[in-house]
Amino acid sequence: MSARLEAEQLYKVFGRRPDQAVERLRRGADREELRADGTTAAVIDASFTVDPGQIFVVMGLSGSGKSTLLRMLNGLLEPTAGHVRFDGQDLTALSARELREVRAHKISMVFQHFALFPHRSVLDNAAYGLAVQGVPRAERERRAGEALALCGLAGWEKSWPDELSGGMQQRVGLARALATDADLLLMDESFSALDPLIRRDMQDQLLQLQRTLKKTIVFITHDLNEAMRLGDRIAVMRDGRIVQTGTAEDILVRPADDYVASFTKDVDRSRVLTASAVMDTDLRGDEADCGCESGCETATPDTPFTELCAISARLSHPVIVLDDDRRLVGVVPTRRLVGFLGDGEVPAHA
Ligand SMILES: Nc1ncnc2c1ncn2[C@@H]1O[C@H](COP(=O)(O)OP(=O)(O)O)[C@@H](O)[C@H]1O
Ligand SMILES: [Mg+2]
Repeated sequence: MSARLEAEQLYKVFGRRPDQAVERLRRGADREELRADGTTAAVIDASFTVDPGQIFVVMGLSGSGKSTLLRMLNGLLEPTAGHVRFDGQDLTALSARELREVRAHKISMVFQHFALFPHRSVLDNAAYGLAVQGVPRAERERRAGEALALCGLAGWEKSWPDELSGGMQQRVGLARALATDADLLLMDESFSALDPLIRRDMQDQLLQLQRTLKKTIVFITHDLNEAMRLGDRIAVMRDGRIVQTGTAEDILVRPADDYVASFTKDVDRSRVLTASAVMDTDLRGDEADCGCESGCETATPDTPFTELCAISARLSHPVIVLDDDRRLVGVVPTRRLVGFLGDGEVPAHA
């Protein structure tokens, strides 16, 4: 069973008099003002909740504070202010020893460059976290073997790391994290060093694993497309602050400010949007009376954009969107679809 993670008004300030700096930040000071005194406000007032089974993505440019935020979540860095709660426990209130225990058993981390031990087999590498926990050899080899199989590496147990491709090595890293049965997975740019195709493969694998494992996952990336593919919810960070938290669709269709909007310009909207974001909901009520002889093709609010295009191409009238009770909730004229593929500016009655 995995558990809920909560970050409450987290701050991390590097430099002199961090507490004073937090007070200034609370009164509205920004990063630049503090930098003048040689203080770095790495994370400013970050709050969010991640429910079990969710992938929470933190997205932002390099230097925006993502890694610092992640290191506070597993207690590697002590917050200057605020709280981290996991599975009902306030991590910020634990002693160093208690925190090591929690880190060894409940939290796993996967880094960008996963450092495998070159002189240990793939199996031993995957079992490393369990060895640290003091799990007996037979059991840790069994569990590491299962984790490797989950990550598509069955048959490679006895190989050496240098016999594996970069993508496969990263899978060993993921297997190591999964083998410990930790409820919380923290992934810092875990796929960023991989080639695009392998990266996509890893994203698919993670999504597939998550369907059965239902861990609590915080995934960090600077890549918005990756964020949108993986994230149940996404937090966008800028200069230490979370400027928006929402679903991929929220961020694409309802950006909180110009900064977020500029970020989303290059996103492949067709991969993210569903009928609910695209449909016109300003209805007269008779739109479903399309005059088709027999029942024509319709969509539901969660029909993916690409499918919507395919349906639209087969119809000579707007696509009708019905909810689970087959009530009319919206319509999608072809022009609206085309508009959303562009910059998202769609006239009210396109
Ligand atoms: N140990 C540290 N001491 C001083 N400044 C740091 C330290 N760690 C990170 N920073 C600064 O905090 C800011 C956020 O860094 P980081 O969390 O690594 O961002 P990201 O992971 O988004 O690239 C940066 O300005 C970085 O230079
Ligand atoms: Mg980082």
